[in-house]
Amino acid sequence: MITVEKVSKVYALEAGDFTALRDADVAIRKGEFIAIMGPSGSGKSTLLQILGGLDLPTSGSVVVDGVRLEGLGEKERTLFRRTRVGFVFQNYQLLPMMTVSENIALALAANRTPKADIERIVDRLIREVNLEGKASSFPSQLSGGQQQRVAVARALAMKPALILADEPTGNLDRKNGEDILRLLSRLNKEEGITVVMVTHDPHAAKTADRIITLRDGAVVEDAVLEGAGSK
Ligand SMILES: Nc1ncnc2c1ncn2[C@@H]1O[C@H](COP(=O)(O)OP(=O)(O)OP(=O)(O)O)[C@@H](O)[C@H]1O
Ligand SMILES: [Mg+2]
Repeated sequence: MITVEKVSKVYALEAGDFTALRDADVAIRKGEFIAIMGPSGSGKSTLLQILGGLDLPTSGSVVVDGVRLEGLGEKERTLFRRTRVGFVFQNYQLLPMMTVSENIALALAANRTPKADIERIVDRLIREVNLEGKASSFPSQLSGGQQQRVAVARALAMKPALILADEPTGNLDRKNGEDILRLLSRLNKEEGITVVMVTHDPHAAKTADRIITLRDGAVVEDAVLEGAGSK
């Protein structure tokens, strides 16, 4: 599903070049649930953004879901993001002036999905993330856990093969965090969606099959968890 070879990301700063990722190699199979861990500043978000086509590597090769990302044009990269990947962020990133339904429908509308299909898909997603009755609410009227469930529903709208989640439980209390982890785990196990989740929380990381650890932009550990695949 994902092949990252010798990927580096160098930011040119006034004070000199800063290497956020150095020669990272990562291979992720379809259907895996991966946790990415490591200290603050180790390059976790940088790696996730490169996997999702939000950012380009300085060097190296990245293939995601059969698409070679380096060298893709801006338009193709936008299409890749919209159709192949679902993103979930720590701070939800919902549009505040739009309702739950409208937030979930964003990518579908951008992709010119017929209106009747959008309504049907959004209805199903709202049920899937347990937000019945909230379709017309605005994000500010929801709890953090509910907002994150909207974000997961939005990520699922285009039926992506891959979900990239950057600290999806980082702003949530234990219970709401566990609800999100259970949701991601179910999508992974039952729908076969590959999940790559950045987390600081060792407890959250246990939801994964495998933990990849970064330090100073390099992969320093890659460990399969006991009981992986049996969940
Ligand atoms: N646009 C940028 N310009 C310059 N440096 C950057 C930029 N984006 C990230 N960096 C630097 O790259 C390094 C890695 O950042 P990244 O956001 O990937 O870390 P992280 O592992 O996600 O950290 P955290 O756990 O705090 O979210 C950091 O030192 C950061 O300052
Ligand atoms: Mg980060």
